[in-house]
Amino acid sequence: MRTVRDLSDIFERYLHGLDYSRQPMNLYAPIEYVLSLPGKRMRPVLMMLAHDVFSPDSSLDAVLPVAAGMEIFHNFTLLHDDLMDKATMRRGNPTVHCKWNDNTAILSGDEMLVLAYSQLLETCSASKPEILGLATRCFTEIMEGQQYDMDFESRDDVTQEEYIEMIRLKTSVLPATVLQMGAVIGGAGKADASLLYGFGEKIGLAFQLQDDYLDVYGDPAVFGKNIGGDILCNKKTWLYITARNMANSRQLADFDRWAAYSGPDSKAKIEAVTALYNELGVGDLSQKLIDSYFDSAMRQLDSLELPDERKTELVSYAGRLMKRKL
Ligand code: IPE
Ligand code: IPE
Ligand code: MG
Ligand code: MG
Ligand code: MG
Repeated sequence: MRTVRDLSDIFERYLHGLDYSRQPMNLYAPIEYVLSLPGKRMRPVLMMLAHDVFSPDSSLDAVLPVAAGMEIFHNFTLLHDDLMDKATMRRGNPTVHCKWNDNTAILSGDEMLVLAYSQLLETCSASKPEILGLATRCFTEIMEGQQYDMDFESRDDVTQEEYIEMIRLKTSVLPATVLQMGAVIGGAGKADASLLYGFGEKIGLAFQLQDDYLDVYGDPAVFGKNIGGDILCNKKTWLYITARNMANSRQLADFDRWAAYSGPDSKAKIEAVTALYNELGVGDLSQKLIDSYFDSAMRQLDSLELPDERKTELVSYAGRLMKRKL
C-alpha cells in the first residue's frame, strides 16, 4: 500500500513538472509563486488515497492531472479569497495581492481557473466526462459559498444552520468531490463513490471549523496566516454565532460595538472579541463539534464494504487533519 508520504512525493513531482514560467511574467510569476509555497496538498492527497482504497498500487497516471487540476483550482480560490478577506499572509508568506497588486491577484487567479481545467482535460481516465461534470458542479458551489460568506459579514442574524450550509459550499464540497473523483477513477461503483463524497463533506465541515478556530487561537508562525482576520472582517463563524447566542446583554452590546468598529486599532478589536469567546467558552465547544463531525465521517466509512487495511491510510490521514495546527 502506498503511504501518504509516497503519494505526496509523487504529487509534488508531477506538479513541479508543470512549467508555468511563461510570458507575460506578471501573469505567470504569481502562479508559480503560490504553487511553490508550502501548502498541505490535502485535496490531491485525499484523491489519491481514495483511488488507492479501490485500486491499491495501480498506476496513478489518470489521477495525477485531475489531482493537479483540483489543487490549482484550490490555489486560484486562495488568490481571490485573500483579496476578498484582506489577508496579508498565506503559507507563511505575503499574499499575491500584497506582493504584487489587486489586479494581478484577480487576473492570475482567473488564469489558474483555466489552467485547472486544462489539467482536468489531460486525464486519460475513461471517466473524464464524469470528472469534468463533478468538477464543474463543485466549482459553482464554492463560488456560491464564498458569496454567502461575504453576504454574512454585514448580517448579525446568521444562524448556525446557515453557517454550516455556507461552509459546506465554500469548503466541504472540494474534499468531498476529490474523494469521489479518486474513487471513480479507482473503479468504485456509484454507491461507494457517493459514500466517499459524504465522508469528505463531514471531514470538510470539521476542517473549516478547525480553520475558524485556528484563525483565533492558532500560532501564526505555524498556521502561516495572520490571526484575527475573521474577527476584523466580521465573519460569521460558528464561534461568533454561538458566542452571540450565549451572550448576556452586556456581552451582546460589546459584540455590537466591536462589529461596528472599523478603526485603526485592529489589535484591540481582536483582543476584545477573543476575550468574549474565552468568557463564553466557545473554543472548546467548537472542538467538540469538530469531534462529532469526525465521528460521523468515520461511521460513513465503516459502511464501505472493504477490508480495513484498505482504509487505514485514509482514516489516519483524516484524523491528523482534524488535529492540525496549520
Ligand atoms: C485553506 O485551505 C482554505 C480553507 C478551506 C480553509 P488549506 O488549509 O488546505 O490551505 P493549504 O492549501 O494547506 O495552504
Ligand atoms: C476559505 O475560507 C474558503 C475558500 C478559499 C474557498 P477562509 O477564508 O476561512 O480560508 P483562509 O482562512 O483564508 O485560508
Ligand atoms: Mg480567507
Ligand atoms: Mg474567506
Ligand atoms: Mg480561515
